[in-house]
Amino acid sequence: MKREDFLKIGAMSGLSTVLTANQAFGRNLTDNTIDKLVDINGNFIQQPLPYAENFLEPYMDSETLHLHYTYHHGGATKAANVDLKKINQAMQENNLETVDFWTKKLSYHLSSHILHSIFWTNLINKQTSPGGMLLKKIEKDFGSYEKLKVYLAQTAKNVDGNGWGILGYQPYTDKLTILQCENHEKITQWGVIPILVIDVWEHSYYLKYKNKRADFVDALFNIINWDNAADRFNDALKLTR
Ligand SMILES: [Fe+2]
Repeated sequence: MKREDFLKIGAMSGLSTVLTANQAFGRNLTDNTIDKLVDINGNFIQQPLPYAENFLEPYMDSETLHLHYTYHHGGATKAANVDLKKINQAMQENNLETVDFWTKKLSYHLSSHILHSIFWTNLINKQTSPGGMLLKKIEKDFGSYEKLKVYLAQTAKNVDGNGWGILGYQPYTDKLTILQCENHEKITQWGVIPILVIDVWEHSYYLKYKNKRADFVDALFNIINWDNAADRFNDALKLTR
């Protein structure tokens, strides 16, 4: 479905339509299966949520989701546009005194935009489990789905400060890999394509779970959209082969 078509349908139905996993993911994608995060002018854009703000209750409360999507993800998207503008301005004026500052900021804000955009489509209001090629790959690289779950949960729960637990595909080694990302951009392996991301910034859970990040991560496994993760894995393979 084209984005324009989605918006028309959303307007007709008061945006109450809940998209299936494939629709939600497909709407975010460009022709080469990368998430569409920029408009035709190269400005960063935030895709609409693929569901209502109360869709993930009770595991993720609507107030948290509203604040998270609107102000944290939204704020990063806007800031990334400012960063890019400042870099372009510095280049045009041939004044590179502060360009390294804005380059660092862009890495932070754009990484936030990318991970949050993936995060929303990684969630659904029911329990799912991986299947197909993704399950086979998980079993090959981690031993079993249960072992992967324990590894990913442990990694996400123990991020120092704010960050993300990430399951990604590493094309250089043809393996699934786990990252313990700090902030939005630190501690990575070059080339990894995120498949499933778990936001453990305090803004993700503090209203409902207070200081109990581990409870939030455990609860999140009730609403992970493994169909979406499988779609992302399949597309990562297409991108890299
Ligand atoms: Fe976040």
